[in-house]
Amino acid sequence: MSRLSEFKENGFLVLEDFVSKEACDELRSHMLKMISSFDIEGIRAIFTTNEQSRVTDDYFFASSEKISFFFEENAFDKTGQLCQSKELSINKVGHALHDLDPVFKNFSRTNKLANLALELGLTSPLLIQSMYIFKQPFIGGEVNCHQDSTFLYTEMGNVIGFWFALEDATKSNGCLWAIPGGHKLGLKSRFIRNEKNTTEFQVFDDSKFDLSKLVPLEVEKGSLIVLDGLLPHLSYANESPNSRHAYVLHLIDDSWHYPKNNWLVRKTLPLEGFSNY
Ligand code: FE2
Repeated sequence: MSRLSEFKENGFLVLEDFVSKEACDELRSHMLKMISSFDIEGIRAIFTTNEQSRVTDDYFFASSEKISFFFEENAFDKTGQLCQSKELSINKVGHALHDLDPVFKNFSRTNKLANLALELGLTSPLLIQSMYIFKQPFIGGEVNCHQDSTFLYTEMGNVIGFWFALEDATKSNGCLWAIPGGHKLGLKSRFIRNEKNTTEFQVFDDSKFDLSKLVPLEVEKGSLIVLDGLLPHLSYANESPNSRHAYVLHLIDDSWHYPKNNWLVRKTLPLEGFSNY
């Protein structure tokens, strides 16, 4: 079966050794440097204010075109102090790393990735979002079963996720799990930015995902997992002593219609593909 037919059949594709172990290490150490130089004082108030929901919504929306740091749930105590070190308190960084940081920009825009996007049927790919996910040892939380198209909806086609394992991802440290073929069952909900400038879910199908059909996608460092936007997937909490760093890029095609009520909207930073680099 060709890679494309396998992707269409299962809704995901595992490509081992897609990037070198050295490239994974470089990205990882670069991110650790970014965290050590990042000043938590500037955003402490955002995560500890009484107006939690409005302020964090604004921070979240603004991250569409910034490099923003998001903390694990309960990272701060009642007095606004971190319960653990900064390095161990961050859940993810996003969502424009691939445009704003030169190291992430290079990692995200290789000929190999551009060719893969074309092979998957995108004719004019655009890199809409990037996330560095830490899945911290012992405290990295569960991410519930979801479809990426819920959060990045297009009226034609389905957003494609490129999920890079920067460390080995196993059942014990919280690898991805997916429902093979589950992308054929349609989109269950959309996460939209409403007129009040907050977010809400629009539900089309309130049935539950059949979690008994999940299979683990255990992969070695350097592997790339390609995800169809409609594929139901999750990751369980990381209760192991090992982190599970991953870098995720999301792509749409310029010809697909991307509604403005998606949460992620670029206002000043242009959306780019592969060709300008
Ligand atoms: Fe996802």
